[in-house]
Amino acid sequence: MDVHRRLLSTRPDYVAARDLIENETMRLIRNATGRDGVTRIPVVVHVVWNTEDQNIPDEQVTSQLEVLNHDFRRTNPDVDTTPSAFLSLASDARVEFVLADTAPDGSPTTGIERRQTAAPSFGDDDAVKSFSSGGLDAWRADSYLNIWVCPLGGGLLGYAQFPGGPPETDGVVILHSGFGATGTAAAPFDLGRTTTHEVGHWLNLNHIWGDDGTGCFGTDNVSDTPNQGGPNYGKPTFPHLSCSNGPNGDMFMNYMDYVDDAAMVMFSAGQVARMQACLDGPRSSIGAEAPVSSG
Ligand code: ARG
Ligand code: ZN
Ligand code: CA
Repeated sequence: MDVHRRLLSTRPDYVAARDLIENETMRLIRNATGRDGVTRIPVVVHVVWNTEDQNIPDEQVTSQLEVLNHDFRRTNPDVDTTPSAFLSLASDARVEFVLADTAPDGSPTTGIERRQTAAPSFGDDDAVKSFSSGGLDAWRADSYLNIWVCPLGGGLLGYAQFPGGPPETDGVVILHSGFGATGTAAAPFDLGRTTTHEVGHWLNLNHIWGDDGTGCFGTDNVSDTPNQGGPNYGKPTFPHLSCSNGPNGDMFMNYMDYVDDAAMVMFSAGQVARMQACLDGPRSSIGAEAPVSSG
């Protein structure tokens, strides 16, 4: 949200783009005429490291891709921990992720690039997204999902840029010890869900509580997620009530809440409609559509 507010105040074109995208999102959700299969998105992972342990192994990267492919296809093995009141809303987002095999210049690539940096850690000011400030440059945002993995300060696990922002900073940034499900990934953020959450933002999802602090007037612009006061943390027990949302209460097991990795297990049908509207709208250039297959 800090990045979002910064762009709103420094980039008049971003204000206009966000308004257009929100209108287009509502129209596309009503008409639902876009991609109806699975969209496979090429990913580049930029590993920017200062100390050796931050130079995460390839297996940690592939473990993250596996998590994304489970979470966005509703094949995550823990989906059945969803309380029965919400289970029917848990939906296949029809998005898959694959490490890029071709770089922007046409050369073959593993989809992983690495750089040692002098910066001991980064913040949410996007310095990690350019070579000149100690990071690595984005690959063209109309063709790749850019993921930066680096040390982050201030207790930040990750951050994302919504669609409609500058292409040179498009993508998500993830703390090295909150990335993937092996290697340096550390509990309770060691199941790869920080990236699932941030990619949710990248596909235009808002926080489930509507980002109004702890009030009950904010909305995520998704109709099937209950109105919720503020973020939930840790591992809540069902039901957790706020904003008179009984008997089922908050959908705290949603990827767009702030609970521990082990406690977040689903996107709702309304969130999937919103992400698909993003792929039909502001991100229509990215990824190739493949026929729906199970698993
Ligand atoms: N941007 C959020 C943060 O840094 C991400 C929270 C992700 N939550 C999680 N359980 N992985 O706090
Ligand atoms: Zn978030
Ligand atoms: Ca809602």
